Amino acid sequence: MSLTFDVQLRADPASDAERAAVLDNPGFGKFFTDHMVQAVWTRDGGWRDGRVTAYGPIQLMPSAAVLHYAQEIFEGLKAYRHEDGSIWTFRPQMNARRLARSAARLALPVLPEADFLASLEALVRVDEAWVPAYGDTEESLYLRPFMYASEAFLGVRPANEVRYGVIASPAGAYFSGGVKPVTLWVSTNYARAGAGGTGAAKCGGNYASSLAGQLEGIEHGCEQAVFLDSSTHTFVDELGGMNVFLVTKDNELVTPELTGSILEGVTRGSILQLAKELGLDPVERRVPIAEWEDGARSGDITEVFACGTAAVVTPVGELRWEGGSAPSTAGSAGGPVTRHIRERLLDIQFGRAEDVHGWMHRLV
Ligand code: COI
Repeated sequence: MSLTFDVQLRADPASDAERAAVLDNPGFGKFFTDHMVQAVWTRDGGWRDGRVTAYGPIQLMPSAAVLHYAQEIFEGLKAYRHEDGSIWTFRPQMNARRLARSAARLALPVLPEADFLASLEALVRVDEAWVPAYGDTEESLYLRPFMYASEAFLGVRPANEVRYGVIASPAGAYFSGGVKPVTLWVSTNYARAGAGGTGAAKCGGNYASSLAGQLEGIEHGCEQAVFLDSSTHTFVDELGGMNVFLVTKDNELVTPELTGSILEGVTRGSILQLAKELGLDPVERRVPIAEWEDGARSGDITEVFACGTAAVVTPVGELRWEGGSAPSTAGSAGGPVTRHIRERLLDIQFGRAEDVHGWMHRLV
């Protein structure tokens, strides 16, 4: 039986003026809409109690399994306002399927795709006013579905009670400096994920394990870290929160192949599909970090960019590692290919370009 989401409107939503002040400069992940989605799953009863309620603290026993054993997964997607006022999201079926794959890896229950889509629609319908106006910015409403083991039990086994939620946050550029090249640190002391691990799942643990590498990068004057394969430390995996692409002088668009330790990004997959239309040759293969280091110096690599739902397409600047660095190929706002891909994606997402792939899904 499919989930329905009973709407319980809050009595004290933000005033128009309060909401306008947030939408004026939302940043990323700092402000949340008036409501959230919640649902509960039990091993005996399946999914039930779908609700849209006031955004606020959630109750959790201190013994809840998620707090101890990190049985948790999440997704990230955005709601975009089009010029006619309608609200759309981008390839949500891909997020639903990835959530199901992450659930299988973390021994969590699968939320059916129809229920996932219904949960997004229910929240965005209620908090529609929080979706930034159509305009010349890239502002949108970031949607964060998540699932966690809420059972109060300290034994190590898959939880028998699990919660699902969706929260929403008005979003501008992911990086505070806007669209400018990010400097990357090559993390060789820390890996994000290993063979047979959870690297391909979107689970909180992967992000936690990327933080020490990111900190090390910050200590070396970089903003983000790039992680390598955990067994040989020679091949590029991803940035922890973003996939990575290299553009070659031969017009190839190269990204690390999915080895099981890399997240299968929706933006990554979409860019690979768009590549041919943009006159580029998409290539998925193992990418030695040395190829990037040498190529950025020799000119064989003409651009590097990172991508993800939150960051869209972000140019990558200088690459640094213990004892060396490779120069930025990005100029002050990214190279022409990076900018072209970014524009193309945003044009589709904001309804300015024809959606020939059928990627957009109307929410409101
Ligand atoms: C996203 O891009 O949606 C993510 O979940 C990555 C996170 C770094 C914000």
